[in-house]
Amino acid sequence: MLNKAPQVTKAIIPAAGLGTRFLPATKSIPKEMLTLVDSPIIFYVVEEAVLAGISDIVLIQGRGKAAIEDFFDVSYELEDKLAQRGELAVLDRLNRIKNMANIISIRQKQPLGLGHAVLCGKPIVGDEPFAVLLGDEVMVQKATEPSVTKLLVDNFCRTGLSSVAVMPVADEDVSKYGIANVEPMDSGVTNEFHIRSLIEKPKPTETQSRWALPGRYVFDTQIFEFLEKTKPGKNGEIQLTDAMAQMLLKCGMRAVAIESRRFDAGDPLGFIKANIEMALLHPELGSEVKAYLREIVTR
Ligand code: G1P
Repeated sequence: MLNKAPQVTKAIIPAAGLGTRFLPATKSIPKEMLTLVDSPIIFYVVEEAVLAGISDIVLIQGRGKAAIEDFFDVSYELEDKLAQRGELAVLDRLNRIKNMANIISIRQKQPLGLGHAVLCGKPIVGDEPFAVLLGDEVMVQKATEPSVTKLLVDNFCRTGLSSVAVMPVADEDVSKYGIANVEPMDSGVTNEFHIRSLIEKPKPTETQSRWALPGRYVFDTQIFEFLEKTKPGKNGEIQLTDAMAQMLLKCGMRAVAIESRRFDAGDPLGFIKANIEMALLHPELGSEVKAYLREIVTR
């Protein structure tokens, strides 16, 4: 039998967090539903996955997150009204959103950490490679540039190795991220590295590396075996980075440096920046927003 080229058709999006950094806004709506320009954060994350060829999205949810599922579902009364009024452009947009992917939800019943959240997706993902996209991290790039998840899927399909995104960070930000100790490739390619070790949220003195994990991964299915064995680590949580560190020793792993601008939209400042960047790139709003920003900085 011929070996089929690996394909990545599934993605896990952990979205079970309580959004405590964004209270009071997130008291009654999930942080993933906060709006960037005219669509919720989760829309952009799912769109990034879909643009990488992914068709099945596994949302790992907690309580009170039903609005996320509703966003990707049929809204009969609304669609009927729009059709009657002849508002076909909006209707078409809503139809595209509800058909963009199969959305499958699983509850993470206890907040045991990111590694545990990813493991909750195992019954759906099964024996296949899959992507992980953190539900409050947003990547912004020009329409002509490939999405971060697309770069990782391509790297995985080419090398057969789990591939994760990395980005450079300043000393003072090292302790906010998983950090990858990387080595250049013999080929001299500058945006791709071997990963030698990984550590979750170290002090800047505990690692020489300044390459952080921005929340985009493509894993071989073996990661589940390592997650099952991972004990609580930093902050008493089951850390994805710890399972990756073990997997890397046995299977190898690649890092791909991102060029996209990445925003932590689950934090008010990151959210405001992401809104401004996206508004500037918006085909209809971009030039007016730019003019307005120019005006306010000269006031
Ligand atoms: C998580 C991961 C960390 C990663 C970060 C990206 O941390 O554990 O390795 O660098 O996301 O935002 P969290 O931000 O959930 O504490």
